[in-house]
Amino acid sequence: MKLWGGRFEAGPSEMFERFSGSLHFDKRLLDADCRGSQAFARALLHAGILTHEECSLLVAAFEQLRAEAMQPSFFDGANDEDVHTLVIRKLKDRVGGLADKIHTGRSRNEQVSLDVRLWLREEIDSIADRLAGVMAALVDLARKYPHAVIPGYTHTRRAQAVLWSHYLLAYFEMFDRDYERLSEARRRTNVMPLGSGALAGSGFPFDREAIAADLGFETITRNSMDVSADRDFALDFLYAASITMLHLSRLAEDWILYSSEEFGWLELDDSVTSGSSLMPQKKNPDSLELIRGKCGRVFGSLNSLFVTMKGLPMTYNRDMQEDKEPLFDAADQLSVSLEMLQAVIATTRLNIAPPAKAAEESWVIATDLAEALARAGTPFHRAHQLVGKLVLESVRNDKKPFDWTPEELAAFAPEFTPQMARLLRPTEGMKTRELPGGTGPAAVGEALERAAKRLARLRQ
Ligand code: ARG
Repeated sequence: MKLWGGRFEAGPSEMFERFSGSLHFDKRLLDADCRGSQAFARALLHAGILTHEECSLLVAAFEQLRAEAMQPSFFDGANDEDVHTLVIRKLKDRVGGLADKIHTGRSRNEQVSLDVRLWLREEIDSIADRLAGVMAALVDLARKYPHAVIPGYTHTRRAQAVLWSHYLLAYFEMFDRDYERLSEARRRTNVMPLGSGALAGSGFPFDREAIAADLGFETITRNSMDVSADRDFALDFLYAASITMLHLSRLAEDWILYSSEEFGWLELDDSVTSGSSLMPQKKNPDSLELIRGKCGRVFGSLNSLFVTMKGLPMTYNRDMQEDKEPLFDAADQLSVSLEMLQAVIATTRLNIAPPAKAAEESWVIATDLAEALARAGTPFHRAHQLVGKLVLESVRNDKKPFDWTPEELAAFAPEFTPQMARLLRPTEGMKTRELPGGTGPAAVGEALERAAKRLARLRQ
């Protein structure tokens, strides 16, 4: 069955049908398609095209289809052009000629926009839930090790000491922004396109606001040509998905390093690691590597839709059918990556000693010392120079910060006082960073509270 054909003398070739058909992927929209058509049947009733009885029959038949489509055998042998065609064919099997009325004043161009919006809206909700799950796991892990200290890095070189929880909360912030971006993508998706027709607006006086209310949409689209031509909402989601994956991949990369023999900070659970077929000793961080790998795939989906849409003439063009596979794939990869990362975070253990030792043995306290000098009146550039000399001297003599006695420090230069030796321990210097956003223990404690509250709000 086709939704068109009157104008043709011969049918499409089998090869063209295979090439252009989209059922094998857009069947995923079946449930949304049926729900959209149920609302559209009600709109046709109000527009005087369907009787009450016809409308009820159609609505019930779509309900049946939704239930039957749960069985994979529902699609056996189907070779319809797309999911919209399949649904009408199946509808005809149930209600006969009445099925011919359902598409009155409607185009597949607006229908596909509606279906994708309905599908994506739910997908974003489920992804947002999983993202909140990852954020909750980060907060839990931060609370497990409230006093743990690690060296923070720049250029992969030990830079300044920070609390482990401060480090974790940095990711919480990234994910919080991702959550906002997903909500924004949802807001732009949550707009009802029906009534636009193929491109010029429908020839029937539908109450578009009523259709929107029926399907739970926030509002209606304002221009029929825009509807047929637009996939911005999908791009918005793909961008939000991409940047979320970017953050996931950076955390994955950190933890691959931190759990390596070279670092020895993190112990990944057996349940999220795998072994080598040859090397018996291996315990590989495949879960994290795959998250990192899938990131590239999601970026590819964003790029794919960008390039598909670039330069398309107004309004609908069949090119736009190519939106779905990248969109579906990106949503799937993001969703499973979030699920995976939450499991990794929930089962990972921190060995407190190695990062603490790394912080104490290195010169991450150098800035603390220079700032102490500056607080005592030494101009900062001079203080920087002095501490640099202290570090150079220490490196030459293989001396660690804690090897310096207060007397030795004070003797090194007149600007140093014996009291400043306290700052040779990283945990002391951190206490000077008690401002909002800093790694001071009290500031981090407050940040943790705020994160927990924010999470509770997100989950309402
Ligand atoms: N399968 C098409 C798509 O996904 C549906 C819209 C088809 N419209 C058309 N005029 N051929 O974009």
